[in-house]
Amino acid sequence: MQLRSLVSAFVLSAGLAQAASSSNSSTPSITVKGNAFFNSESGQRFYIRGVDYQPGGSSNLTDPLADASICDRDVPVLKDLGINTIRVYTVDNSQDHTHCMNLLQDNGIYLILDVNTPTSAISRFDPACSYNSDYLQNVFATIDAFADYSNVLGFFAGNEVINSVNTTNTATYVKAVVRDMKKYIKARKYRQIPVGYSAADIVGNRQLAAEYFNCGDDADARIDMFGVNDYSWCGESSLVVSGYALKMKLYEDYSVPVFLSEFGCNQVKSSRPFTEIEAIYSTQMSSVFSGGLVYEYSNETNNYGLVQINGDKVTKLTDFENLKNEYGKVSDPRGDGGYSTSYNYSTCPEYEKNVWEANNTLPEMPSAASVYFKSGAGSPMGTGIATQQSCDSKDDDEDDEDTSSSSSVSSSSESSSSTSKVSSSSSSSSSASISETSLVKSAASATSSSQSSSKSKGAAGVTKIPLVFRAFAELYNLIL
Ligand SMILES: *[C@@H]1O[C@H](CO)[C@@H](O)[C@H](O)[C@H]1NC(C)=O
Ligand SMILES: *[C@@H]1O[C@H](CO)[C@@H](O)[C@H](O)[C@H]1NC(C)=O
Ligand SMILES: *[C@@H]1O[C@H](CO)[C@@H](O)[C@H](O)[C@H]1NC(C)=O
Ligand SMILES: *[C@@H]1O[C@H](CO)[C@@H](O)[C@H](O)[C@H]1NC(C)=O
Ligand SMILES: *[C@@H]1O[C@H](CO)[C@@H](O)[C@H](O)[C@H]1NC(C)=O
Ligand SMILES: *[C@@H]1O[C@H](CO)[C@@H](O)[C@H](O)[C@H]1NC(C)=O
Repeated sequence: MQLRSLVSAFVLSAGLAQAASSSNSSTPSITVKGNAFFNSESGQRFYIRGVDYQPGGSSNLTDPLADASICDRDVPVLKDLGINTIRVYTVDNSQDHTHCMNLLQDNGIYLILDVNTPTSAISRFDPACSYNSDYLQNVFATIDAFADYSNVLGFFAGNEVINSVNTTNTATYVKAVVRDMKKYIKARKYRQIPVGYSAADIVGNRQLAAEYFNCGDDADARIDMFGVNDYSWCGESSLVVSGYALKMKLYEDYSVPVFLSEFGCNQVKSSRPFTEIEAIYSTQMSSVFSGGLVYEYSNETNNYGLVQINGDKVTKLTDFENLKNEYGKVSDPRGDGGYSTSYNYSTCPEYEKNVWEANNTLPEMPSAASVYFKSGAGSPMGTGIATQQSCDSKDDDEDDEDTSSSSSVSSSSESSSSTSKVSSSSSSSSSASISETSLVKSAASATSSSQSSSKSKGAAGVTKIPLVFRAFAELYNLIL
């Protein structure tokens, strides 16, 4: 399929030079070759050994990379865990990140950054409207704020925007965002930073989504890396029982790097043993997967933490010790791990009503955003900006709570300094994402079969969600 390349003219005409990238020998930039990551200096294959990192969670949404006291507290703990990458779901692009980014660099830790915020994202209910120039300004300003750090491994254009069988139409707009981000990075002459998508594990469309984001003749519109949020390995398991073997098959000839952008099923009796580490970094998986990130660093209401945070105190939980022990035991595969450069990009899935409703002709970028290609995104607007104000919201009337069994977690509704800048309705949206997190995680993990995650919302462990919060979660495609 022919996809548009409307802004290539700006790529050529971009006259303003960028500051040289800050390079730091402890974190040389990571590049993509075939279906794997490589250290640009040593030439060694790079496997993500990471954790998802958003202390405060979504009830107290805080930019953890803008606060020296937070990263000074946490980076030594991350170092002790033995990781090389964190993923952060939302930041405030108007803040200064120098201290924390340098601290991460000093400790050899890379960053995968999601570019969305609770109020600036592609909406599931009105994706076309939410794909607007205010939104793109926010995305581009986030790129501007981070592109010069050599330890930015990549950006995620979206997280679990497709989270059901009836949200596949959003993919058209998320893919347009991927395209716009890649063109923007080129136009601004930043280093070639990988742009990807982090997918929910939805049985009905996981393969279609993987193909769609990596299909078509327009290389700018195809992702550079694919993250899969996958909770299918629970407790003591195996490649076959967990369903990892099926995932290997599914992505075996995928042409760009695939990794687990969230893993760590918590449907276990006590602490998580993290035996999947041995599988993920084995030669059995390294030809297809490039590591992954454990969900998540801090213990929030959904109970996935490795550490418990109390003010400036961090208590390492048994999960932390178990994971550290596994990382310590398991080294990366030797050599190139069997990666391949010989796979072609995917064939675009056809539009099919109720199955795959994304369009292979992407919308043109909103024309008002073109100016950013020439002169940069300008002032970052931070997390207070709401880019969906003019969109038709169905929020209050939506009732999509299809299950209600065995609820336990309730949303807390404390608002943080960042969320309190926005309207009160938006601050309830920040609570919603906790619930959504619990729902998605529980849905994915409450089942022993990797094939049934999207059907399992009635299973034990599912959170009862106040309808209004649930609606906001749906509306805003929140973090985590
Ligand atoms: C929210 O996070 C900030 C930054 O860590 C912290 O100072 C504040 O106490 C937190 N608020 C609540 C209600 O936990
Ligand atoms: C990495 O950058 C930091 C901050 O600029 C600096 O303190 C540190 O010495 C650098 N490390 C190396 C190995 O160059
Ligand atoms: C994690 O936080 C949840 C909710 O606050 C709490 O119920 C649970 O006990 C905590 N887990 C640990 C291991 O401290
Ligand atoms: C890759 O696939 C596309 C479309 O399916 C095809 O046009 C192209 O020739 C293929 N490229 C290679 C190198 O096989
Ligand atoms: C796909 O996008 C094109 C161009 O925007 C539009 O004309 C067409 O109606 C769309 N098709 C579907 C099925 O949405
Ligand atoms: C998807 O379907 C569910 C269940 O029928 C519904 O509640 C939800 O609002 C739908 N989402 C969208 C974006 O249409």
